[in-house]
Amino acid sequence: MQKILITLLTLSMLSCGQKSDNSQYLQTKIDSLENKLSQTYKPGFGEFMGNIQIHHAKLWFAGENQNWQLADFEMNEIKENLDGIQKYCSDRTETKSIGMINLAMDSLSNSILKKNKVMFQRNYTTLTNSCNTCHQATNHEYNVITIPKIPPFSNQDFMTKK
Ligand code: HEC
Repeated sequence: MQKILITLLTLSMLSCGQKSDNSQYLQTKIDSLENKLSQTYKPGFGEFMGNIQIHHAKLWFAGENQNWQLADFEMNEIKENLDGIQKYCSDRTETKSIGMINLAMDSLSNSILKKNKVMFQRNYTTLTNSCNTCHQATNHEYNVITIPKIPPFSNQDFMTKK
């Protein structure tokens, strides 16, 4: 009986030793994965904004040409980039202010849905003002967004297919 107990005790001690070896191994793995994760590429706030700038400009010419399908597409691109900021730039304090653009986005979406050019122009101006309101609120007031005068690219046709 005593022999059996001693054997069991030794066995459990051995398995304990094995367990701590195992958790050591797992910890090393976790550390190395955390290290890798911290080095994976994450797009920055400025990159999202650069993308938003492109789609904001294209959106104007889509609306001016009453190409409502393209206008809707450009709106979605802006939304995706706004979502990206919330997902990937949550560590930036400026991200808390991103919601101030939502109302202007909704109104503009609505005018695109209604295919109303006059409403589009008015709401596009409001959206552009919202961009600047946020830039002012986040100490980037020197970054002034305007209604574009010429299409941002010469290799894209903003007109609808006839
Ligand atoms: C959170 C509020 C906020 C809103 C809303 C916002 N921006 Fe920005 N924007 C910023 C901040 C903060 C920066 C600086 C980013 C950085 O640190 O690189 C910036 C930078 C920019 C830049 C500079 C990028 C560059 O490379 O020059 C452009 C262009 C820009 N925003 C366009 C827009 C447009 C267009 C809109 C509206 C459709 C908009 N932003 C809405 C906060 C905002």
